[in-house]
Amino acid sequence: MNADLVVVGSGFFGLTVAERAAEELGLKVAVLDRRHHIGGNAYSENEAQTGIEVHRYGAHLFHTSNEKVWEYVNRFTAFTSYVHRVYTRHQGEVYPMPINLGTINQFFRAAYGPAEARELIREQAGELAGTDPQNLNDKGIQLIGRPLYEAFIKYYTGKQWQTDPKDLPAGIISRLPVRYTYDNRYFNDTHEGLPVDGYTAWIERMADHPNIEVHLNTDFFDENHELGRKAVLGQVPVVYTGPVDRYFGYAEGDLSWRTIDLEEEVLPIEDFQGCPVMNYPDEDVPFTRIHEFRHFHPERDYTKDATVIMREFSRFAEQGDEPYYPINTAEDRAKLLAYRDLARDEQSVLFGGRLGTYKYLDMHMAIGSALSMYENKIKPHFSGGAPLV
Ligand code: FAD
Ligand code: NA
Repeated sequence: MNADLVVVGSGFFGLTVAERAAEELGLKVAVLDRRHHIGGNAYSENEAQTGIEVHRYGAHLFHTSNEKVWEYVNRFTAFTSYVHRVYTRHQGEVYPMPINLGTINQFFRAAYGPAEARELIREQAGELAGTDPQNLNDKGIQLIGRPLYEAFIKYYTGKQWQTDPKDLPAGIISRLPVRYTYDNRYFNDTHEGLPVDGYTAWIERMADHPNIEVHLNTDFFDENHELGRKAVLGQVPVVYTGPVDRYFGYAEGDLSWRTIDLEEEVLPIEDFQGCPVMNYPDEDVPFTRIHEFRHFHPERDYTKDATVIMREFSRFAEQGDEPYYPINTAEDRAKLLAYRDLARDEQSVLFGGRLGTYKYLDMHMAIGSALSMYENKIKPHFSGGAPLV
C-alpha cells in the first residue's frame, strides 16, 4: 500500500486533516469511510423529485467566531447570508425561539418592557428559589419559572431524551437563555451562512486533491482490506475519527449516545410552514421538530410545485444506530477516561472528531480541532520527525 497517512472517517475532521497533509506536506493520504459517501453527518443531496437540497443527517447550520476556521472554510466554498431562526408551535399558537421578549409578551398577552419581563420571570422562578434542584424539571422551573418551562422546554426535552424530566439529572442544562429583547437570531457568532453550492460540493472540493485517495464502503475494521487496521497498524500513521469504544472492542463498555430518526415527506405544495425549523414542544406530538429544506436557500430558484419536510424523532441509540449526541452520564465519563488512556498508548494512532473523542462538536469545532491536530502533531511528525503521540 502506498499511503503516508491513513485517515479513518471522511467527516469534516478527517477531511481537514487529509487536505492539510496532502496540500501542505505533499503526503499521500488514504481516506476511508464505511458509508457510501464522504462528508460524515454534514452530507447533503438534492431530493430526487424536487431538486431541493436535503441534509441527510439532520439540518446543518454553519456558524463560527473562529477567524482561522472562517478563512480556511472559505477556500472551499462561499457562504450565503442565511441567518438561522427557529419558531415553536405550542397549543395551536406559534412563538419565536429562543425565548425572548416577543415570546414572553405573546405568551402572557402583555406588552412588558425588558425590566418588567425580567422581574416577572424572576418572580416565577422564585417558586424554587434557594433549593438545590435534583432533577431537570426542578432545575428548569428554577431557571425560567414554571409557565414558560412547562410550555416550551419540559416536553420538548422529555421527547429528546425519551425520559420524564423528573427522572433526568439536573446537570443536563446549566442555563436556559431568555433574551429580554426581540432578537430571535439563533446563533451569536461573527460568521454565519450556508454553503452556496451545498454541503456536498464543499466537501468534495476538500477531498479533490491528487494526493488524496478516498475509499468508500470501507470499514477500517475489515480484517481483509488492504487499508484495514490489521494491514496498516504499525506500518502507517493513522488518524481515527470513528467511535473510540469500537476501536478498542468495547473493552471498557459502550459509551451511550442519542440518535435521531428522520421521516422525509414530499408535499405537493409550495410552502408548508413558512420557515426552516418549527419546534413541537407539546406532549401529544411525537416528533420534536419539522425541517422544511427549501427555506435554507431562499436565494435558489426551487420548484413551486412541491416542498420537502422532515420530521425529527429523538431516542437512545442502540447497537447498529448512528451515534449522534453523547449522553455523557457519570459512567460514560469514567469509561471515557479509560478509553483516553488506551488511545494515548495506541502507537501512531491519533484519535479525533466527534466520535473519536466522544464530544459533541459543531462543524466549525471539528474543523478547528483538526487544524490544531495537524499543526501540533502531524506536521511536526512528518517535517521534523517528532513522535506521533
Ligand atoms: P462525522 O461527521 O460523524 O464523521 C465521521 C465519519 O467516520 C463518518 O462518515 C463515519 O461513517 C466514519 N467512520 C466511523 N467509523 C468508521 C470505520 N470503522 N471505518 C471507516 N469509517 C468510519 N454542526 C454544526 O456546525 N451545525 C449544525 O447545525 C449541526 N447539526 C448537527 C445535527 C446532527 C443530528 C448531528 C449528529 C451533528 C450536527 N452537527 C452540526 C455536527 C456535524 O455533523 C459533525 O458532527 C461535525 O462536523 C464533526 O465531524 P466529524 O468529522 O468529527 O464526524
Ligand atoms: Na495514540
